[in-house]
Amino acid sequence: MSQFHWNPETYLDLIRAEVPRFDELQRAAVDAVPFAPDRVLELGMGTGETTRVLLEAYPDAWVIGLDSSPEMVFRLRREYDGVMLARMEDPLPDGPWDLVISVLSIHHLTDQVKQLLFRRVREQARALVIGDVVQAEQQVTPIDPDVDFVDTPEELAEWCDGEVTWRADDLAVVRATYA
Ligand SMILES: C[S@@+](CC[C@H](N)C(=O)[O-])C[C@H]1O[C@@H](n2cnc3c(N)ncnc32)[C@H](O)[C@@H]1O
Repeated sequence: MSQFHWNPETYLDLIRAEVPRFDELQRAAVDAVPFAPDRVLELGMGTGETTRVLLEAYPDAWVIGLDSSPEMVFRLRREYDGVMLARMEDPLPDGPWDLVISVLSIHHLTDQVKQLLFRRVREQARALVIGDVVQAEQQVTPIDPDVDFVDTPEELAEWCDGEVTWRADDLAVVRATYA
């Protein structure tokens, strides 16, 4: 699921074809949020589908998000204030955050960078929720080994000191609660 081919206009159709349980994953990620969050940081907003589902569940949440794709950010800014063109590898916007959430984005980071990111999140956030493609016996989602670095859910949970709350096929949700 190379990030370089996403076009905001066709993204949702394509991702739903590549990730048949896409909508279930969004719901499972939001279901894993451990408390009603006020201040949320979203990493890799895409077209804002995760944001939309999160705000349906928590309409009073204030979401700041970032994405490294100028096309996605341009599109997102039609609907959301507080969207930044930035990479997850860059310094994060200043917290504290009640929740950091990221769906189908973390797997674009190498394992070392993921672990660094989780340490930085932990310093600033009360909770972290990750929904992503993971290693599984049957890999459903097409993987491009140059840009998709897929781990087991247990590895993700260990690195962020969290727990696996949901899994189906090659998708999983991991939640860590810090305070
Ligand atoms: C597959 S989309 C997921 C978007 C949304 N969360 C969803 O579930 O529909 C992944 C997004 O992460 C962004 N992305 C990839 N690598 C990134 C990075 N290193 N820093 C920030 N955003 C990144 C891509 O531009 C893309 O918009």
